[in-house]
Amino acid sequence: MEYEKLLSSTIQQIKPSGIRKFFDLAENMEGVISLGVGEPDFQTPWVVRSTAIQTLEKRRIIYSANAGLLDLRREICNYLNRKQGITYDPKTELIVTVGGSEAIDISIRALINPGDEVLIVEPSFVCYAPIVRLAGGVPVPMATRLEDSFKLTPEILRSHITPRTKLLVLPFPNNPTGAIMTREELEKIAEVLRGTNILVLSDEIYSELTYGRTHCSIAQIEGMQERTILVNGFSKAFAMTGWRLGYVAAPAPIIKQTVKIHQYTIMCSPTISQYAAIQALQSCDEDVRRMVDEYNIRRRYLVERFNEIGLPCFNPEGAFYVFPCIRSTGMSSEAFCEALLNQQKVAVVPGNAFGDSGEGFVRVSYAYSLKHLMMALDRIEAFLASGKAGQI
Ligand SMILES: Cc1ncc(COP(=O)(O)O)c(C=O)c1O
Repeated sequence: MEYEKLLSSTIQQIKPSGIRKFFDLAENMEGVISLGVGEPDFQTPWVVRSTAIQTLEKRRIIYSANAGLLDLRREICNYLNRKQGITYDPKTELIVTVGGSEAIDISIRALINPGDEVLIVEPSFVCYAPIVRLAGGVPVPMATRLEDSFKLTPEILRSHITPRTKLLVLPFPNNPTGAIMTREELEKIAEVLRGTNILVLSDEIYSELTYGRTHCSIAQIEGMQERTILVNGFSKAFAMTGWRLGYVAAPAPIIKQTVKIHQYTIMCSPTISQYAAIQALQSCDEDVRRMVDEYNIRRRYLVERFNEIGLPCFNPEGAFYVFPCIRSTGMSSEAFCEALLNQQKVAVVPGNAFGDSGEGFVRVSYAYSLKHLMMALDRIEAFLASGKAGQI
C-alpha cells in the first residue's frame, strides 16, 4: 500500500511534538536526569483518590451527560465565580472535556471556517497551530520578546490583525516562558479587541500556579466575557494529569456547538474522574497552596542558579517552567539540548519546540524535586565549565 498517498496530506505535513522528542530520547538512556516534562511530581490529593475509589465501589461507572455531570459543572461554575468573580450558567455555558487538550480542540473546531486566521502568542504550548491547521484555518504566530517579559503587547497584537482574523489564542500563565499578564496589561489587549469580531481562546490551565500575584482572566475585563472562550482543567493545579479532565466556559451559542463535537467524538469525559473532580474543587484549596509554595521555592532556586552560572534567566511569575537564554554558548537550542543530553545526561526541551521565537532558549520544568533540580544544575554547570558547550 502507498500509505503516503492514502493518508490525509494535512496531518502528514504536521510535525510531531518537539517536547516528546527529547523526552523519548532521554527515556532510552541510562542515568538521565530529565527536566523535560510538564507534569506535577506531586500525588493527586488523597481525598480525590479516595473519592474515585468510593465511586468504583458504588459502581456508578456509566456514561455521564455529554456536557459532564451537572453537579461537576455547577461546582466548576462556583469555582470560577469564587476565584475570578465571573459567572457562568452550568447548564448552557460550560462543558467538561478530556483535559484542557480536548477543550482547546473542540473550541477551535467549533469556531474556525477554512481560511480563518488564528493569532497565536509564541513561544507557547505546541497544540494550537496543528489543531488550527486540522480545522482548515491559518495559524498566525505572534512572537513575544524577552524585552517585553514575553507578554503580548497591544502593538504586537494590532500589527497582526487582518480582516480574516477570527481568534486570538491567549495562553497565560505561559508554557514555556512562565510569563503572566496582569489586569492592567489585559485591559490594553481588550482595548484593541473592542469593536472587532475577534474572539479570544484563553488557555488558563496554569491559573492556580502564580507566584506573588493572583491570576486574572481576560473574561474578567469589562465587556470581554462575551468574546472569551475560557479553557482550564485539573491536570496542573490538582496534580491530576492522568485523570484527563478539563473544561470550556463560554457563551451558550459556542458551548452548544462544542457539545456536538464532543458528543460525536468522545461521548463524555471519564465518569470516575468527574466525581473525583467535584471533591478536588470542594476541598483541595490547601493542597493546591502547598504545591504552589513548593513550586515557588524551586522557581527561585532555578532563576538564581541559572543567572549565577551564566545563562540569563527571565523571572517567571507563573506555571512551572523557567526559560533561560543559551545564546552565550553560541549553540542553537537543539544543539545545546543534544550536547547536554549526550555529555551530562540532562534532558531539557529546546525553546524552538514552542515556535521559532523560542530559538536561543531552553525550557526547564521544575515539576521535579529540589534535590533532582540541584543535581541537574550541577551537571549543567559542569557542561558549561568544560567549555564543550561552545565547541559543538
Ligand atoms: C498551556 C497548556 N494548555 C493545555 C495543556 C493540556 O493539558 P491537559 O490536557 O492535561 O489538561 C497543557 C499541557 O501541558 C499546557 O501546557
